[in-house]
Amino acid sequence: PLEKSSNVGLWAAQYIVDKINAFQPTQDRPFVLGLPTGSTPLETYKHLIELYKMGEVSFEHVVTFNMDEYVGIAPSHPESYYSFMHNNFFDHINIQSQNINLLNGLADNLEEECQRYERKIKSYGAVHLFMGGVGNDGHIAFNEPGSSLASRTRVKTLTMETRTANSRFFDNDINQVPKLALTIGVATLLEAKEVLTLVTGRHKALALQAAVEGSVNHLWTISALQLHQKAIIVCDAFSTMEL
Ligand code: GLP
Repeated sequence: PLEKSSNVGLWAAQYIVDKINAFQPTQDRPFVLGLPTGSTPLETYKHLIELYKMGEVSFEHVVTFNMDEYVGIAPSHPESYYSFMHNNFFDHINIQSQNINLLNGLADNLEEECQRYERKIKSYGAVHLFMGGVGNDGHIAFNEPGSSLASRTRVKTLTMETRTANSRFFDNDINQVPKLALTIGVATLLEAKEVLTLVTGRHKALALQAAVEGSVNHLWTISALQLHQKAIIVCDAFSTMEL
């Protein structure tokens, strides 16, 4: 645990930069980075952009896969995860547009879109490092409570809790929050070589407790990280209140 939440973003950004640089990616052997949305990783993205501008890292040979996307809103919608990622990260670094992967929540055939995404990840072998956050109820990506720990990329119905939490981005109007999302599965995430989870704030304390001290179970999907050989949690002091 780090004392201040702002240190979590700095630590995570430096960790990611070190990983990319140690890997020395090339055109034929890109570094494959999994990415989340949400408020928690914003600091990390700011620091990654700063480190890029300082010449500490290049994203030229980095391929990204985002965790999830809402169903039914266009990429151009200000609250789509496509917009979030471009506004907060991709538009400020030297990533090649063909190396950016996001699920398409407007695909005609959502099942096929999910399978396409799984195939695309597999075509790179594996995700080298997947960064993630956690919902107040312990969900990772959009793997809501009750999701199978063997789940793969699929359509998921969002819980009222998640839609309520995310209504802050939709004029505080829950009716504007999509009811469905596409999300990588718990098993998809666990197949990454490394998982880096950011947890900040008192409101995440129960999720962190479930992640670290609870039993592995499908009601707190974050607990599945206990099954991973290299799962790192970077958290602030507030989120450790229940440990
Ligand atoms: C959404 C995202 C998750 C994210 C969670 C927490 O549900 N799908 O990937 O971890 O929000 O977001 P925040 O960091 O804003 O608390």
